[in-house]
Amino acid sequence: MTPFLLVSRSAEYESRLRTMLGERLAVVAGEFLTFGTAAVVGRVDGTPRIAFLGPVLNYEETRGLVEELTAKHPDLGLVVVREQRSDLEDWVDELALHAVLSPNASDETTLELINRLSRWLISNGKAEERDFDEPPVREFETPEPIPASDEDLLLLEGDEDHETFDELTQAPPVQEWAFPPLEAGVSSDAFAVVAPKGGQGKTTIAINLATGLAEIAPNSVVLVDADLQFGDITAALALDPTRTIVDAVAAAAVDELVLKTALTHHEDGFFVVASAPSPELGDQVSAVALGTLIERLRHSFRYVIVDTTPGLGEHTLVALEHVTDAVFVTNMGVPGLRGMRKEFELLTALGLMPSNRHIVVNQTDKLSGLTMRDVENIIGAPVDVEVPRSSAVLLSSNRGVPLIHDDVRDPAAKAIRSLVLRIAPEAFPKRSRIQRRRRSNEPE
Ligand SMILES: Nc1ncnc2c1ncn2[C@@H]1O[C@H](COP(=O)(O)OP(=O)(O)O)[C@@H](O)[C@H]1O
Ligand SMILES: [Mg+2]
Repeated sequence: MTPFLLVSRSAEYESRLRTMLGERLAVVAGEFLTFGTAAVVGRVDGTPRIAFLGPVLNYEETRGLVEELTAKHPDLGLVVVREQRSDLEDWVDELALHAVLSPNASDETTLELINRLSRWLISNGKAEERDFDEPPVREFETPEPIPASDEDLLLLEGDEDHETFDELTQAPPVQEWAFPPLEAGVSSDAFAVVAPKGGQGKTTIAINLATGLAEIAPNSVVLVDADLQFGDITAALALDPTRTIVDAVAAAAVDELVLKTALTHHEDGFFVVASAPSPELGDQVSAVALGTLIERLRHSFRYVIVDTTPGLGEHTLVALEHVTDAVFVTNMGVPGLRGMRKEFELLTALGLMPSNRHIVVNQTDKLSGLTMRDVENIIGAPVDVEVPRSSAVLLSSNRGVPLIHDDVRDPAAKAIRSLVLRIAPEAFPKRSRIQRRRRSNEPE
């Protein structure tokens, strides 16, 4: 019996949930969504009781799944696995969900949610106690151990079709990434990407800024996910980090060589300091430690880019103290624009406005009812870069590829590239650099 169903594009999340639920979990890979939601629903066997949708599914995909799954299984409990972003309210309002779970929630929290939801389904007559039972342990006959003879070993080693014993036991080669030391006289530029509210596009801008700058300074760019609670850079880049900012701040206190081991390399030529694996661990990173980390990274990297927590909390203020440039991101919503004006006023009053300021208005939309002049009047400063709303943004992050390399001609990609050029005029795109690449995880 498989009472639990997962539809997701994250192999990492799948294996986590598999560890918790064992054989009671059935999985349909999110890749089948390429063929439509019906293709996914058609692959679901039996009657699932609780379905987990996500992570790495977009709104349309999730909505399609919710509708089709509930049409077929009206009593199904529905959990969306997704970070708490500001646009989540729209999801919750419009979809018939039972719960939203962060992909970074601890096993304990996840199991508690499963427990609560299954009790609720049972008490409302939507499921029965036995639906959630552990499957009976299958009895296996213990196979006779095959005696290992010298002959067997020799055969294995001598047979060209087989990997040799040595090859099988050796760990895959670890790629070495050299940090080209900054030449004497070359200074490091550091950028804090900030926004008064969540969901404005900080992470999108930060990732693509890192990608663009890595074209001119390969492997000398580091992107720090300092959105300590809900950082999602590694999810948007389909990276699977073994170390996070928690290790990086500890390592920064030791030396640069140790710090290097806390970074995750991205194939487009930059490094990532991943966000904390859970909000609780994120809380352990102090603002002072974040400042020290940024300074340390500035010794080794030409460009340091820091994605931040929305608003001007302590950590973001400290980050701003340690950078040369601030990139302010807002969308066309009046609350965000007003919030940005307040941020300018506060930073100026505190003397914390970095030397260079770049104002990005993201998700611009002719239908917003505001002109760019209105926007400038509200924020009280000229806008430097306008990034149009584009579906290519979400597609690229679902694919785990930075937008400016995923869809070169997309208007939002072009606008973000103009931000890169504003910062580094030598980053003029060469054809060879920006050619769209097919990734190994991409469907043919
Ligand atoms: N220009 C854009 N057009 C369309 N969608 C966008 C654009 N910029 C960002 N988004 C989407 O908006 C959401 C929030 O963006 P994100 O970069 O994660 O914001 P933040 O880091 O400020 O919370 C994401 O789903 C992202 O794909
Ligand atoms: Mg973000």
